[in-house]
Amino acid sequence: MREFIITIDGPAGSGKTTVAKALAKKLNLDLLESGAFYRYLTLRLLQSDIMDSQFSSDEIFRKKIEEFLSEIEIKISPEGTVLIYQGRPINNELRSKEVEEKVSEISSHPVVREEVNKFMRRLIEGKRVITEGRDMGSCVFPQADLKFFLTADLEERARRRAKDVIDRGLEEVKKNLLERDKRDSEREIAPLKVPESAIVIDTTNLNFDQVVERLEMFIKRAY
Ligand code: C5P
Repeated sequence: MREFIITIDGPAGSGKTTVAKALAKKLNLDLLESGAFYRYLTLRLLQSDIMDSQFSSDEIFRKKIEEFLSEIEIKISPEGTVLIYQGRPINNELRSKEVEEKVSEISSHPVVREEVNKFMRRLIEGKRVITEGRDMGSCVFPQADLKFFLTADLEERARRRAKDVIDRGLEEVKKNLLERDKRDSEREIAPLKVPESAIVIDTTNLNFDQVVERLEMFIKRAY
């Protein structure tokens, strides 16, 4: 089967994850949620003693990252990306406040990005997938068949996110989004940006069904 890749990039709360999920199910494509790998590595680093010494040697750090990645089992399907560690799914833990506060910093490390990218490219070889993240179209899968970039204004993104995180108020969510946006777009390697030839969709004033419909229209044309 010919490899087929659709990328959806955009800032947190732009709707890319929920939209990618709906499209993956509708079109029966495997869904690769790239943020999960950065969140997983952040969780493992937070639990380990390497945090303090991470910049002392890139080689030691790389070994650790490789080791962490070799310890997870991944299931990708149209339902999404499930990370299994020590025999149980850990996706809920990946959305903790501690992880969210640290993940942008960890994901700006070149070694982390290189290893995650290698891992993801191997994972989807020969598959038909939708992938979502920050640099899927610009950096990881520049050969993608179709690229989207979703945006929405900060207020709207914060409102959407606040619904998902019961333990945090709107202002706290907004602050976290702003900090992550800034770090993700200003980092030297693979910053969040509109990939070349991507279709940009502002979802601020669109409801969920309208966004899905719009993307589906473009996908059907490319199939
Ligand atoms: O998409 P999600 O909110 O799960 O991503 C969590 C974090 O992982 C982002 O804020 C970003 O710092 C990092 N990330 C990234 N590149 C990607 C996907 C996520 O740097 N392709």
